[in-house]
Amino acid sequence: MAKAIDAAALEQILLAARTHNKFLDKEVPDSLLKPIVDTMRMGPTSANCQPARIVFVKSAAAKERLKPFLSEGNRAKTMAAPACAIIGHDLEFYENLPRVFPHNQSAKSWFNSSPAHAETTAFRNGSLQGAYFIIAARALGLDTGPMSGYDQSGVDGEFFPGGKGKSNFLCSVGYGDPSGVMQRLPRLNFDEIAKIV
Ligand SMILES: Cc1cc2nc3c(=O)[nH]c(=O)nc-3n(C[C@H](O)[C@H](O)[C@H](O)COP(=O)(O)O)c2cc1C
Repeated sequence: MAKAIDAAALEQILLAARTHNKFLDKEVPDSLLKPIVDTMRMGPTSANCQPARIVFVKSAAAKERLKPFLSEGNRAKTMAAPACAIIGHDLEFYENLPRVFPHNQSAKSWFNSSPAHAETTAFRNGSLQGAYFIIAARALGLDTGPMSGYDQSGVDGEFFPGGKGKSNFLCSVGYGDPSGVMQRLPRLNFDEIAKIV
């Protein structure tokens, strides 16, 4: 049986982790970005469908391509971050099902006849994988700054051309500068969030 992770680990991934708006001027090498994906990809998705698709915007040229689509409040901080991951999903994720869900070769037919069902599934599981991404980055010693303030169709056209990829949110990645962290906001309490029936 698995044991609870130690208190320090829990603090690092959730309890004390913060959303970062400012990052230290310290490069995040590709060799640290890859393990985020290698870790997040192990989180569960329905029918193992793994719809998330991620573009790490890291070079100055790529950042210039992203810049016009960022909301005013998110522009400067995103341009200054070492990297910004575009967390998206593949609307045709089901093409991989014969390989990633091999024991049921008809699984693809659950989705390829219904674009609406495919999109709901891609968004649901892509969002989960986005959350796994944040937790994985934190677990690996990095900080994140998720953002939804951007022009989605603009980013999709620029970074997911062809129409089968859709972005969900952006997530800056780096070593957080505590001076840019906002005041901690209140969380709902257990009774407002959950009940045990
Ligand atoms: C999906 C998502 C979208 C967000 N969009 C923005 C955004 O566009 N701009 C921004 O400054 N913060 C954004 N945030 C940051 C949230 O306001 C922040 O995570 C929340 O207040 C909790 O902060 P904490 O993690 O420091 O407690 C976003 C967070 C998430 C998870």
